[in-house]
Amino acid sequence: MKVLIVGGNGQLGKGLSRTAPDGVEIVSHDIDTLDITDAAAVNAAVRAVAPQVVFNAAAYTAVDKAESDEAAALAVNATAVGYLAQASRQAGARFVHVSTDFVFDGRSGVPYAPDAPTAPIGAYGRTKLAGEQAAGADALIVRTAWVYAPNGGNFVRTMLRLMAERDEVRVVADQIGTPTYAPGLAAALWTMAAKGTCGTHHYTDAGACSWYDFAVAIQEEALAVGLLDRTVPVIPINAAEYPTPARRPHYSVLDKTSTFAVLGGPTPHWRENLRKMINEITTYG
Ligand SMILES: NC(=O)c1ccc[n+]([C@@H]2O[C@H](COP(=O)([O-])OP(=O)(O)OC[C@H]3O[C@@H](n4cnc5c(N)ncnc54)[C@H](OP(=O)(O)O)[C@@H]3O)[C@@H](O)[C@H]2O)c1
Repeated sequence: MKVLIVGGNGQLGKGLSRTAPDGVEIVSHDIDTLDITDAAAVNAAVRAVAPQVVFNAAAYTAVDKAESDEAAALAVNATAVGYLAQASRQAGARFVHVSTDFVFDGRSGVPYAPDAPTAPIGAYGRTKLAGEQAAGADALIVRTAWVYAPNGGNFVRTMLRLMAERDEVRVVADQIGTPTYAPGLAAALWTMAAKGTCGTHHYTDAGACSWYDFAVAIQEEALAVGLLDRTVPVIPINAAEYPTPARRPHYSVLDKTSTFAVLGGPTPHWRENLRKMINEITTYG
């Protein structure tokens, strides 16, 4: 099987390469070799590879920056998704696209089902929702949340740095969601693609927590393996005390029932995957 990955150097892109099943031939591009906002380049790349599956791991993920540059976010997160979907369709390839919990407004008190009403409260979420529409009904669209990996800029790596540098760390406690370990998401996408799943589904690790809970767990796991050598106070704060250009949903836990049915069981708990990631960076740096 031949597979094209775009956004191949990102957290998910690297996870896809790392978890690829045996016998799959991967061509992986990132913006330096294929800018997905270039329609002609996308068509040429898809024709050249003639893949059975196209994974879109590319995105404009700078949530705060998107507020002041929505056009740039829209170009990557929506217009380019249309180019990829159309080129995949023409090549007879399955198109796998990834979206976000930020398509929801966060006012629910129960996990969001894939068909729950969307109502993004920021520019990033708006552009990702437009991307879902551009992907089309024949695509597999998987919404995820709070993604982290050993590579890339993410909350776990930021916390480890701040906990080493500072005497205390203040973390938002009134936003609830679920962390997602990128290689786990990637492995699930391979399975769902192989099974020919299409439509919109949700994937995160299991469980739910606040950013504050997540930070406390990161500190505990890192101390346990010697990745941090001292405890600093982790102070819970309200989102209002940490103003950012983009508003974020207060609650964005995703209902994964349909995904569990495809995968044949639940995803690992977020704490278990956090431990795996901390062990991995302790071993490999
Ligand atoms: N990270 C999260 O917490 C999170 C949460 C929910 C959903 N998601 C979704 O999950 C997916 C994967 O996210 P991720 O965390 O793996 O993102 P990531 O680490 O930011 O990777 C995205 C990759 O896309 C590349 N890219 C940006 N613009 C491009 C373009 N025009 N052409 C080609 N490549 C381009 C980026 O390159 P540069 O780095 O050079 O820009 C980067 O390598 C995305 O669809 C994202 O929206 C992520």
